[in-house]
Amino acid sequence: MNKNHSVVGCIVKKKDLEKSGKVLARYEQTAGHYDSRYSTLQLDKYKFILKSYQRLEFKDGKHYTQERHKAHLIVDLGCGTGLLVEFLSSQQVFPHSRYLGIDISLAMLEFAKERCDSGSCMPTGYVQGDVTHAPLREGYGNRIFSISVLQNLDPRHLGRFLDEINRISSKNSIIFLSFLHKPPLRHMMSEVESKLKELFPRVHAILMEKSTEDAGFICFKTQ
Ligand SMILES: C[S@@+](CC[C@H](N)C(=O)[O-])C[C@H]1O[C@@H](n2cnc3c(N)ncnc32)[C@H](O)[C@@H]1O
Repeated sequence: MNKNHSVVGCIVKKKDLEKSGKVLARYEQTAGHYDSRYSTLQLDKYKFILKSYQRLEFKDGKHYTQERHKAHLIVDLGCGTGLLVEFLSSQQVFPHSRYLGIDISLAMLEFAKERCDSGSCMPTGYVQGDVTHAPLREGYGNRIFSISVLQNLDPRHLGRFLDEINRISSKNSIIFLSFLHKPPLRHMMSEVESKLKELFPRVHAILMEKSTEDAGFICFKTQ
């Protein structure tokens, strides 16, 4: 094996992986237990986010039906074991869409791939990579998710992560972002919000912490 790691044809620089080494090691070791520990919690978050999105965007069912029938390119930054794509597929949220999951942990990605090999997910692809240097071209996707990932990042890389979301999202994208919102992470809410407001014209805070411990944002990009 050379100094690079690859999955689905994408190359990740070793120096980028080293920066997130501790997080990577933790998820590599615990990947096998992730679903049994967290799947119920994560599913509650997805449901909450989806409900918030529908409430924000659609006053009537007609427009939601139109949105559903478009072919979207979903990017899931820090996709873990692929719980989100299974949820979106089973709920027929964006039924004509394709999905790309990115995660730093190969072990997590292997569970994600297995899940979709055996299930009835929308077409999927997976890439091993660091979300603060997403291995994607500009404007790649238009429905960007990152659920419970941001708290894992080095706080110094927060701005770079949000810039990456902006870079890889195309015109008229919607961004769904959540992160753990427990002490000592609470201060991050205002920091993330002010950076998002610099990047996107519409930013809505969603607080779901009572049941799920996360907080987050839904952002609408126009240009
Ligand atoms: C709490 S899990 C959430 C997984 C998934 N989003 C979900 O809803 O179940 C956090 C995930 O982020 C990934 N992760 C953490 N830091 C990352 C980074 N810098 N780049 C890519 N993935 C990262 C971890 O490997 C892990 O799979």
